[in-house]
Amino acid sequence: MASPAVGIDGIELWTGKLKLDLATTFAPAHDIDPNKFTKGLGLHASSLPDVYEDIVTMGANAALRLMQRHGLTPEDIGRIDVATETAFDNAKPVATYIAGCLAQVMEGDFAHANLGERKFACIAGTQALDDAANWIHSGRHRGRKALVIATDTALYERGDPGEATQGAGAVAMLVSESPSVTAFGLPQGIGSADETDFLKPHRQFPSVDGKRSMQVYLGRIQDALADFAAAGGSTDPDAHAQFLFHTPFPGMVKKAAVLGYLDGVQGTARGDALAEDLGTLAHPDTFADGRAYLDVLKAHAKHLKQTDHYANWYARAVTPTLKVARQVGNWYTGSVHVARASGLLHAAHSERALTGQPLIVASYGSGAQAEVHAETVQAGWRDEAEALTIQQQLDARYDLSYDEYEAIHAVHTYGAESNLSPRTAPSGEFVVDGRGPMGEYTYAYVA
Ligand code: COA
Repeated sequence: MASPAVGIDGIELWTGKLKLDLATTFAPAHDIDPNKFTKGLGLHASSLPDVYEDIVTMGANAALRLMQRHGLTPEDIGRIDVATETAFDNAKPVATYIAGCLAQVMEGDFAHANLGERKFACIAGTQALDDAANWIHSGRHRGRKALVIATDTALYERGDPGEATQGAGAVAMLVSESPSVTAFGLPQGIGSADETDFLKPHRQFPSVDGKRSMQVYLGRIQDALADFAAAGGSTDPDAHAQFLFHTPFPGMVKKAAVLGYLDGVQGTARGDALAEDLGTLAHPDTFADGRAYLDVLKAHAKHLKQTDHYANWYARAVTPTLKVARQVGNWYTGSVHVARASGLLHAAHSERALTGQPLIVASYGSGAQAEVHAETVQAGWRDEAEALTIQQQLDARYDLSYDEYEAIHAVHTYGAESNLSPRTAPSGEFVVDGRGPMGEYTYAYVA
């Protein structure tokens, strides 16, 4: 008997309520040409959390809105999987705090629910979706849905090159049988390696070798694409409505897209003609110097961009997935899921028909692993996309001055005590409201 379709039944995004404008605020303070951010990295702004926000409040706020919109109670949820790489506790998972928040305002509790936390840098959100889908396929779900929440405050040390790519926000997703948004395909490609491109060894800010992390990202994506093909998957650019890539910043996706496209046209007349013009693109791992690889990749990208087929594919299948990321920065575990929401939102606004069409999802986490799978868009996608309020949330963000940004960054440095006043007023949301007996954060709902 064929298994029922399993996939994403609902999506909600919650952005940090502050905005750091990269061109008008960050660039002048650093005496850098704003085009480096807007054109080079493809980013216009970062979302940052106000003083009363953290990974728990953002995750709980996204989850509450999603559950309420879908008319769900805690009884309907069999597990809560939180993906984060900015957890503040090595023992007690963020999912317990989020379940506690939700139980403050909803009928019932999550005593029956399996709560946990997934860690593998930015790929953990996709791994949590996979765990949830496997739980449903196993038959242990008893008709319940899984709540997967990817939540992060992605801050870099002041002065780190990654500072311009910061971001903060949460993506909550429901995973269920007979999903209304997308159904997961069976073939899955994985590319793993023991790498040290981005680490946080018992410290808040990452230790990152930015250029190397780009090379490792691309190497693992290339491996996962090959493994996806070995599993029977296809990345034919003409057969997929959208390609979603992990998006630490949109400029990174410009590079990953070259690999996705070349993989998809491999073995076709178009692929053969490209190989004749360009030569075969060597695997990233064969370059000792990451910069040399990125230069070769750039030459391929330049050539491809001049072909109508690539330019049209990129505009149709990739650009729509980057629209939200350009305004929010890196949400780490949430970033590839922001790409899905962005693509669906754009398709809804531009009246595109997506039902029944496949998407490619390519995730990556430093350390390092990539995963590639396909999803088929389901009939309820448009209603879900139209219910998203992310653009209104982005428009309502408080625009920080540079002095305010410096103060907010310090507030979110672990251990820093601060009396900084919030820049925004919470309403209808969870907030950090103090410290408990063991120094832990406590949370309350502000009506
Ligand atoms: N106008 C237009 N583009 C400009 C520019 C200008 N004035 N100045 C620079 N650029 C371009 C660069 O050419 C580059 O684009 P390219 O990669 O296509 O060549 C881009 O802007 C970034 O500039 P670069 O000098 O490479 O930035 P950087 O070294 O300061 O930082 C990262 C880039 C990615 C290394 C840094 O943001 C980082 O460490 N990020 C965190 C780690 C990360 O996200 N890794 C990704 C894999 S997970």
